Amino acid sequence: MARRPLVAGNWKMHGLQSASGEFDKIVAGARSLPGVELMVCPPATLIAGFAAAARGSSVLIGAQDCHALASGAYTGDISAEMLKDAGAAAVIVGHSERRHYHGETDATVRAKALAAKRAGLLAIVCVGETRAERDTGRAAAVVRAALDGSVPDDLVDFVVAYEPVWAIGTGLTPTPADVGDMHRVIREWLGSRPGKAGERTRILYGGSVTTANAKELLAVDNVDGALVGGASLKAQDFLAIARAYR
Ligand code: PGA
Repeated sequence: MARRPLVAGNWKMHGLQSASGEFDKIVAGARSLPGVELMVCPPATLIAGFAAAARGSSVLIGAQDCHALASGAYTGDISAEMLKDAGAAAVIVGHSERRHYHGETDATVRAKALAAKRAGLLAIVCVGETRAERDTGRAAAVVRAALDGSVPDDLVDFVVAYEPVWAIGTGLTPTPADVGDMHRVIREWLGSRPGKAGERTRILYGGSVTTANAKELLAVDNVDGALVGGASLKAQDFLAIARAYR
């Protein structure tokens, strides 16, 4: 089954209203990239504006996190329903920075993935091993366990992002062979799920994807796209990464 590649930009805590010019360039560039799904995940403050600017284009807007509940006394939090209402189509859950800085566990991530489903958002579930886990040969087991814990049993439409923690924002990447090995592990894990999850679910690679390495990393078997951090902040670089699929 052909899976349409997804290239998603995770802007993290970057971007003021003045970033709309950069976003407009992404929308314009998307017209010449019909074969690739492009998504920008800006800070929550920019979601509604970007969604309005993207209307009529193929560019999707994603959020970077959500609360597990639809509403309530949770000062500062934003629900999946609110993100959907603002124009988001997807939400990243379980990014390693959320797991690390906010103490999110697999159970938290699973609850957030369920919230995404409830609100009609596509969940992008992030998993990845630390350097120490890779060095001691535990990477595949760690990723399998994170998937077991983070992906709800009845979730059908979702995306997996494999993001080795040690590769995020460091300029380091696994070799294409190592990426291929892990994506095969994830593909096999998906194959054990109901429906056609094994064939249809996209697996993104994330962690120091740049214009220089995109072609090589995105050509690996079972890599159905990329989750791009730093390099997604510049429209020109983000579009060049997406063009690696041509
Ligand atoms: P990076 O971030 O591309 O800046 O390494 C990736 C991510 O955290 O999703």
